[in-house]
Amino acid sequence: MDYRKEKRFSGLTPFASKLWLASPTMHGEEQHWVDDAITTNWVSTVGANINEIEKEIAAYTGVQYAVALSAGTAALHLATKLAGEKLYGQAKPNAGTLAGHRVFASDVTFDASINPIAYEDGEAVFIDTERDTWNMDPAALEAAFAIYPDVRLVVVAHLYGTPGKMDEIRHICQEHGALIVEDAAESLGAKYLSDASGWVETGSLGDYNCISFNGNKIITGSAGGMFLTNSKEDADKVRKWSTQSREAAPWYQHEEIGYNYRMSNIIAGIVRGQIPHLEEHIAQKKAIYERYEEGLKDLPVRMNPYDAKKSQPNFWLSCMIIDEDAMAPHVRGEQDELWLHESGKASPGEILEALQAFNAEGRPIWKPMHMQPIYRTHAFITAEGNGRGRSNAYIAGSGIDVGADIFRRGLCLPSDNKMTKEQQAQVIEIIHRCFR
Ligand SMILES: Cc1ncc(COP(=O)(O)O)c(C=O)c1O
Repeated sequence: MDYRKEKRFSGLTPFASKLWLASPTMHGEEQHWVDDAITTNWVSTVGANINEIEKEIAAYTGVQYAVALSAGTAALHLATKLAGEKLYGQAKPNAGTLAGHRVFASDVTFDASINPIAYEDGEAVFIDTERDTWNMDPAALEAAFAIYPDVRLVVVAHLYGTPGKMDEIRHICQEHGALIVEDAAESLGAKYLSDASGWVETGSLGDYNCISFNGNKIITGSAGGMFLTNSKEDADKVRKWSTQSREAAPWYQHEEIGYNYRMSNIIAGIVRGQIPHLEEHIAQKKAIYERYEEGLKDLPVRMNPYDAKKSQPNFWLSCMIIDEDAMAPHVRGEQDELWLHESGKASPGEILEALQAFNAEGRPIWKPMHMQPIYRTHAFITAEGNGRGRSNAYIAGSGIDVGADIFRRGLCLPSDNKMTKEQQAQVIEIIHRCFR
């Protein structure tokens, strides 16, 4: 269907330049620090930019040590490996540290949170999502420990920049002697009111913590990530692993498997130029969220929720979810989807296609990990227990869990911090027209 020619959308013209979901926002200082790296010839994985951003991010997030790496995924891999080694000992060079062990993990997240469990030969068990923050449900985590009491590691992500229920999760983990890998890739700058420590930053809430500087994140280096910790020993180990695990010998000497995961000083220069603008980016994202909240309040939709008493999100992505009774028919296969229009109703598929027709980028909610073909055989636990095979041929009921439901009815809206108020007003208008 060509939405631009449809009567419902008459009078609207496509955006002259594309409105992105979340694109890099440069300020000028980035160029200075990249040039500085080049003119001083520190074009390597060593240099002043790396040292400086490690200091600045550690201070900002309130941890003692930060290790700059090539990606958030690299940080998550080494964090997960470190946890595996701590729990189960050093693995042979051809084996992962989690071999033979299950790991509990957030279900609605990007697969980079989860894949390191497989890199380390572990088996992820997915924990369902709660409706208050769209993050790991502590009740489902409890249920998971009841089924798998031997599990000792939990990977927790903060979706779209909104902190999850970390006090509850930490408490449950402590009761079961489990460690936490915190994936704060999307939530740098988001704050959480911890019962134990007051207001703290995400990225400081786990035993092993990770952030990302991917091009779409709240601040970027074009790529890059960091491992954050209060343990000098852990920071030193990650630094060693990330630079090919060299021993202290005059020649190349190796007792452990190594990785080429260190951040480049050029990338670090971009991050260095971005750090002074983190708070400004968060303020812009918050204003975008609030304008959507106001502009969409007359529609049968809600924004991605957060707990205002316990958290201050970084509002990285604004999302919405359509009320059940305003959902137009919409079905998804593995790679395509079909929907029908019904007056007064809409579906994520229709809204995303309408936005695209007017040159604006939205995105479906991250498809839950338990629904991904690659992880289809892995266990999935909801607040009621086993989340697999929940429907019954003989008894009426639904096989839909919270994560699947948010995926079905939700979508991510254009959230670029360079989007003007006028552009956002047109996005809001397009969404309204979808419901006509
Ligand atoms: C939740 C989450 N975890 C991990 C990553 C991986 O970070 P990177 O792209 O820096 O490897 C991302 C995004 O890219 C993410 O959104």
